[in-house]
Amino acid sequence: MSRIVILTGAGISAESGIETFRAETSLWAQHRVEDVATPEGFACDPALVVEFYNMRRHLAADALPNAAHKALAQLEAEYSGEVLVVTQNVDDLHERVGSKNLIHMHGALNSALCAVCEHRWDAPMMMHVGETCPSCGAAAARPDIVWFGEMPYEMDRIFNALSRADIFAAIGTSGNVYPAAGFAAEASRAGAKTLEINLEQSAVGAQFDEALLGPATQTVPEWVASILRAG
Ligand code: OAD
Repeated sequence: MSRIVILTGAGISAESGIETFRAETSLWAQHRVEDVATPEGFACDPALVVEFYNMRRHLAADALPNAAHKALAQLEAEYSGEVLVVTQNVDDLHERVGSKNLIHMHGALNSALCAVCEHRWDAPMMMHVGETCPSCGAAAARPDIVWFGEMPYEMDRIFNALSRADIFAAIGTSGNVYPAAGFAAEASRAGAKTLEINLEQSAVGAQFDEALLGPATQTVPEWVASILRAG
């Protein structure tokens, strides 16, 4: 059976109106990463961090999945082999169109995490500092987001899938943040054919066998159609 592993980044949601991290007008441009995306930033000013993710949660809730998200869900439903989507995105646009074999390696905006017992539950649209964990009762709720300096989720499962992949595709990711930026090299070492789909070549673009350049809403449906045609 053929196996496809797909890594997605902010670029796949850009045409849904969710700005990429490095876009000059994004929420990120108004904050230092250290302040809003590290455990130290949260310890220093939890209200700022909780509010930052409240805003991002609202933006994601207002966005609609686009043709690229839909094409990946179609690929999973119709491909004769196995399809795994690993996303660095914290929005829920993949699952809203039916992707099921999906890993949110950097967490999810619609999830809350207890910093004490690691219990997870559905995040309310507006989180507040000091909310209590429904499992252990500690006043230790935080956004269920992997911050810089923390370990991304499900790395064993991801590396296992990369080691068995026949095709690896990275879609709309800048290749600036590890470990995800190392996935192409890892899949390549294990014998997979690698493809980068992006507006432009990424920081690790030279590591891919092929590139498909252009907006994801055009390139991803084209690529999915070609895979499904080939069987
Ligand atoms: P970036 O904002 O770093 O990169 C977005 C990528 O998408 C760039 O390579 C763009 O060229 C590409 N792009 C933009 N619009 C596109 C479009 N319409 N079609 C196709 N490609 C497009 O986002 P990520 O690579 O996802 O980590 O960022 C990786 C991680 O850095 C994030 O998960 C986050 C961030 O800091 C954490 O929060 C831990």
